[in-house]
Amino acid sequence: MRTPRVFLVARCVRGLESALGTEILRTGSATIDWIGHREVGFSSADGIALRLRTADDVFLLAHRRHDVGPHRSDLTGLTELARAVDLEGLVRERVRHGGPPGLGDGIEISASFLGRRTYNRYDVEDTVGRVLAERAGLPYHSRRHGEPPPPGHSGWRLTLDGTHAGLLLRLGRRPAHRRAYKNATIPGTLHPPVAAAMAQAAELRPGQRVLDPCCGAGTLLIEAHHRAPGTTLLGFDLDPTARRTARQNAAGLPITVDHGDAGALPLPDRSVDRVLCNPPWGEQVGAGGRLAGHPERWWHELARVLTDEGRAVVLLPEAAGLGHALPLGLSPVHVQRLSLFGSSPLLIHLERGRGIGRRRRLAKRT
Ligand SMILES: C[S@@+](CC[C@H](N)C(=O)[O-])C[C@H]1O[C@@H](n2cnc3c(N)ncnc32)[C@H](O)[C@@H]1O
Repeated sequence: MRTPRVFLVARCVRGLESALGTEILRTGSATIDWIGHREVGFSSADGIALRLRTADDVFLLAHRRHDVGPHRSDLTGLTELARAVDLEGLVRERVRHGGPPGLGDGIEISASFLGRRTYNRYDVEDTVGRVLAERAGLPYHSRRHGEPPPPGHSGWRLTLDGTHAGLLLRLGRRPAHRRAYKNATIPGTLHPPVAAAMAQAAELRPGQRVLDPCCGAGTLLIEAHHRAPGTTLLGFDLDPTARRTARQNAAGLPITVDHGDAGALPLPDRSVDRVLCNPPWGEQVGAGGRLAGHPERWWHELARVLTDEGRAVVLLPEAAGLGHALPLGLSPVHVQRLSLFGSSPLLIHLERGRGIGRRRRLAKRT
């Protein structure tokens, strides 16, 4: 008997859709079915879905039908949607893709919709969640009163985008963006899937020397290690709490974290193959040491330590800083705006000497 096709849906930060699509395709065992707003729909044969690092969350598509409409009376359409789900088949698929067995100790659901409606998200959640819980013989946890769902409940998600109603079941026990390593944190620490996308964009190769000159809790270096084991990973930070946090998070990994000022790095010229960094220009963390009031020193050090074929992938709050890059021989080769917890930073790839000089150097070598 032919197994019905099951779609997986990976959700991500706005702006990372193509990075997520790239990561899915690079597994070599998945095909992409659609790329939408903050999501990629895909099919895969084996358990790759739970290993995606640029995803915020990964789900099985439980059911998809047309959107129900904007009126309270339309909510009955959602009851039908919840009744149409093949719960047993879904539980089997979840295990096949590496998820836990069963539906946990209960059901919790989070809904979102586009467009004006005469009902709210809790009406949607309660309508669908109660039917699912009754069908599964499990308790239902409503989010209506603001209490977080108890651990152990299976996580569901419902999206109404004006065209489709999509009901999803989380594949793992926890959202994919939560990392087991990230037990310690600091203000301004990077969202791990964004760090993973930056490491992916850096095209890391074993043997390369990778630097984060303002490493904070170490997220970029840790994600770089998972992307490409065998790189030499080096982080500096002025703040002792940040360094302690990074060492704790990176325990057991080949990552060196030292005291150092990103405005005067204790490294020789042309000694680093890749730089990954979100420098302290944001609202949450201010620049200290030699960078205080002098962001150009960060740019100068970046240009000084990168090798001729070096590449930097950085997250900046705005494009204005790029004015420092070009005169130093650093060319932006890709810019992507993200939407991240209320801010809109730019993910930027820079290469050294992208112009004539670089082409001449490369030509000489071949
Ligand atoms: C935005 S945070 C980096 C967050 C980090 N990527 C993470 O995931 O946790 C910026 C870091 O720059 C550090 N910093 C500020 N001024 C510095 C300087 N002159 N040299 C090195 N680090 C500096 C801060 O202590 C802070 O940890």
